[in-house]
Amino acid sequence: MTVQAAVLRALRKPAGTARQGFGTTSRRDNWIVYPVVQAVVFTICASYLTFSGIFWGPIFGPQVAHADGYLSPLFSPLIAWKDMPTWLSPGLLILWIPIGFRATCYYYRKAYYRFYFADPPGCAVGEPRVHRRFALENALPFILQNLHRYLLYLAFIPLFFLWLDILPAFNIVPAADAVDQRFRVGVGGVVLLVNVILLTGYSLSCHSLRHLVGGRIDCFSCTQARRVRYTLWQRLSDLNRNHMWWAWSSLITVTLADVYVRLLDAGVVTDQALRFGQ
Ligand code: FES
Repeated sequence: MTVQAAVLRALRKPAGTARQGFGTTSRRDNWIVYPVVQAVVFTICASYLTFSGIFWGPIFGPQVAHADGYLSPLFSPLIAWKDMPTWLSPGLLILWIPIGFRATCYYYRKAYYRFYFADPPGCAVGEPRVHRRFALENALPFILQNLHRYLLYLAFIPLFFLWLDILPAFNIVPAADAVDQRFRVGVGGVVLLVNVILLTGYSLSCHSLRHLVGGRIDCFSCTQARRVRYTLWQRLSDLNRNHMWWAWSSLITVTLADVYVRLLDAGVVTDQALRFGQ
C-alpha cells in the first residue's frame, strides 16, 4: 500500500455514533420533512436555473432573457459578441461562479449531503453503510469543496453587476431602447431589487467571509485596524446566524426573477409600473 493510499484510508469517514441502518433513529419528531421539502425546492430551482441559463437559449432562443430594461440575473454581466456561436449561452460564461459558490457553500453542503446522499439523512439518524467508504473531502471529487473561499471572492463580481442592473430597472439610467425614460417603480424593478438584496445578504453571511474578516487574530483590541475588523466581524456574524435563510430565500428569488423576465420577454405578462417625472 502506498503512503498516499494509507493516508486516504486513515482519513475515511468514521462510523459515527448514530444507530446503524438507513433511517434508523430514536428520534420521535418528523425529521424527514425538512430534507424532503429541501430536496424538492432545491431540485426544482437548480434544474430550472441550469436549464434557463445554459440550455434554453441554444434550444429555443433568444440567447438572453431581457425585456423592457430588465435583465435576468442569470445573464449578468452580459458577455456576448457579434459572431457568438448559437450553441453557447452567455449565461454559461458567468453562471459557473454562482453555481460553484452555492455548490461549495457550507450550508448547502450540509443540506444536500443529507437529502441527496443520506449522509446522514438527519441528526442522529442512521445512514447506509456504503457511505462509510469514501474519503470525505480529502480526495476528488469532494476535495473541490475547498475552493469555496476563492469562489466567494469571484461571487462579488456578478453581484456588483446585479446592483448596476438596478439602474436601468428603475430608469435611473434608462436602457438605450427604453420607450419611456421616466423614473419608474415597476414590478420587475422590485423583483430584481429584492433579489439582489437577498443575494448580497447571502454572500455577506458566508462563513468564509466571516473567517476572512475576523479569523486568525489573537487580540481584537490591540490596534485600531483590529478593532475595526472586530466590529465588521460582529456585523457579519449577525448575518451569518441566518445564513440558511439567506441561502433559501435568495435561491427562490433568483428563480422567480428569471421566470418574471422570461414571461415579460415572451409577452405573457406586462410590467405594471408607477412612473414619475416629465
Ligand atoms: Fe454558504 Fe459561504 S458558507 S456561501
